[in-house]
Amino acid sequence: MSDKTIPVLTIDGPSGSGKGTISRHVAQRLGWHYLDSGALYRAVGIAASWADIDLSDASALVRCTFDTEVGFRDESADEPRVIVNGVDATDELRTETAGAAASAIAAIPEVRAALKDRQRAFRQPPGLVADGRDMGTVIFPDAPFKVFLTASADERAERRYKQLKEKGVSVTLDGLLREILARDARDASRAVAPLRPADDAVRIDTTGQSIDAVVERVLALLPERAA
Ligand code: DC
Repeated sequence: MSDKTIPVLTIDGPSGSGKGTISRHVAQRLGWHYLDSGALYRAVGIAASWADIDLSDASALVRCTFDTEVGFRDESADEPRVIVNGVDATDELRTETAGAAASAIAAIPEVRAALKDRQRAFRQPPGLVADGRDMGTVIFPDAPFKVFLTASADERAERRYKQLKEKGVSVTLDGLLREILARDARDASRAVAPLRPADDAVRIDTTGQSIDAVVERVLALLPERAA
């Protein structure tokens, strides 16, 4: 059971909308905890690949979800480490392959149900910034602060391209754009918890905006904003 008196700011949106970076900065400024819910789905995806589980084997994936231990280290750092079954899997987690696996398993209702309580357990004092696709609609529908971030698909592909280039990963902009559009379509069309803004979410388009500018706009929504 999570304590509903603890404030939650949900930040949902498609991949590349800037959610991760913005959420971490906002959490740092507020001194609140940070939940990267996508990392949980990615962790199950890579644990399944380590165990040679086929992405079409739903019952094995559900068992894998229950069996996978996920821990976060340096939660408030710029790049928190993600530990999967005792192994630091941070780099593997960020690959496009892990993202695509996460998106596929995230469409299985029992996998989503199995991760619900784990996500709600992050609601700890003094507050939580929760980043994902369904934070405001399903996991924390009572959250007092909800944001939905968007950005044009072209800009999202370009941001991802730069990130991967910096890491020395070889990709093409066209290929990334195609992957982003395919992932958006899958995340938005699935029957359970599809990607959509909560009715009470404030929508912010981050196209052409700096990280700092978006962080300030988000913080301005909170009465107890950081100094
Ligand atoms: O935010 P991300 O790119 O790390 O998420 C990876 C995938 O996990 C994404 O394509 C869809 C899924 N996901 C989800 O279904 N619900 C969430 N709350 C977070 C992620």
